[in-house]
Amino acid sequence: MKKSLQFISILTLAAVGFSYGLNSCKKSDNPNNLHYVQQEKPDIFPEPVYHFEDNPLSEEGIALGRKLFYDGRLSLDGNYPCASCHQQSAAFGTFEHDRSHGYNGSHTLRNAPPLYNLAWKTDFHWDGEFKAFLPEAAQPINSHNEMAESFNGVIDKLQKDPEYRNMFRKVFATEFISAGNMLKALAQFTGSMVSANSKYDRFKKGEATLNTQETEGYELFKLNCAGCHPEPMFTDNSFRNIGLPIDPVLDDHGRVRVTKDPADDGKFRVPSLRSVYLTSNYMHDGRFNTLLQCVNHYRAGVQAGPNTDPAVAGGITLTDAQAVNITLFLRTLSDSSFLTDPRFTRP
Ligand code: HEC
Ligand code: HEC
Repeated sequence: MKKSLQFISILTLAAVGFSYGLNSCKKSDNPNNLHYVQQEKPDIFPEPVYHFEDNPLSEEGIALGRKLFYDGRLSLDGNYPCASCHQQSAAFGTFEHDRSHGYNGSHTLRNAPPLYNLAWKTDFHWDGEFKAFLPEAAQPINSHNEMAESFNGVIDKLQKDPEYRNMFRKVFATEFISAGNMLKALAQFTGSMVSANSKYDRFKKGEATLNTQETEGYELFKLNCAGCHPEPMFTDNSFRNIGLPIDPVLDDHGRVRVTKDPADDGKFRVPSLRSVYLTSNYMHDGRFNTLLQCVNHYRAGVQAGPNTDPAVAGGITLTDAQAVNITLFLRTLSDSSFLTDPRFTRP
């Protein structure tokens, strides 16, 4: 609240300073006539974690973020916009890739997470390296195996473009592009990608029914999986070790890299399972490419170590038919309207 007041008062000061010269000192909270938009909250969702207090959502801010998200100029050679790895057709993950391709044919360490319902997340990245998604977007721009650019490099390119100058002036009251304002615009766009229109959501509203197999899968899911993947977000935002053997080449030990606590060795963030059928590959390194492989991991693949969660350490007992029914339930979480939502397509 305080931050958003600060932000508005900065805008007001800028407006007063500007209009002083024009000899009209009318104070305004919204000098650029921005069209503010209310943050979307689907009925069955809890309150979001992030409310854009420090970055009020506006149609103009979201449009600017959208343009940046699809703009190759944010990467060194022009080929790797955010959208090259975060593809709308895969709920903004990378479609059917274990890990994504970045600058100069390099690979990212991890599977690109789909981007939706970000305002409900407490931690970002598979190991929770980022606590907020504003700084998160700085990372791919600088990262050698993602976009490989520097902020100064990006700003030099964008500052020459009159359309960007106009858009930044409108949203942030200055045409001088800064890294902070770029990140705010990107956060407005990605943070407004809300996905809540799956068959499951319609079922919850009484507008759809689940068939027998989906219903059985749902019951089994509640018994065996919901402890870590609880409804309606399908994640409890915690970090857990589910006994996936560590790939010796990638040598990725997850959360311990951030906390340095040996008890976090092999822990990764519990991913949401919304639209999971549309976002293969799976797990932090994309090692599986079907949902059945994921369920079979819990049945027979768990290699328990000292940190493996007790809920899965002994394996989860399911018949073949039950395993299939769980995957059929997971498919009811697909929000296909999100994949073509015109608000999020390339502008
Ligand atoms: C080369 C591929 C690539 C590009 C380009 C890229 N990302 Fe990502 N993104 C990833 C990967 C991989 C991760 C997961 C990193 C990890 O967990 O260590 C990620 C994670 C994220 C997350 C965190 C999501 C979560 O649930 O934790 C956000 C938000 C995000 N990216 C936004 C962006 C934005 C905005 C851009 C453009 C400025 C961008 N990304 C460009 C591959 C990419
Ligand atoms: C102890 C907590 C826990 C339980 C119980 C659990 N999961 Fe998970 N699940 C996780 C974590 C953590 C990951 C990510 C692991 C990684 O990538 O290293 C994950 C990943 C997944 C993925 C891959 C998603 C993606 O986007 O990559 C699927 C699918 C999945 N779980 C389904 C299930 C199902 C179905 C069950 C029940 C049979 C279940 N989980 C039980 C914690 C759990």
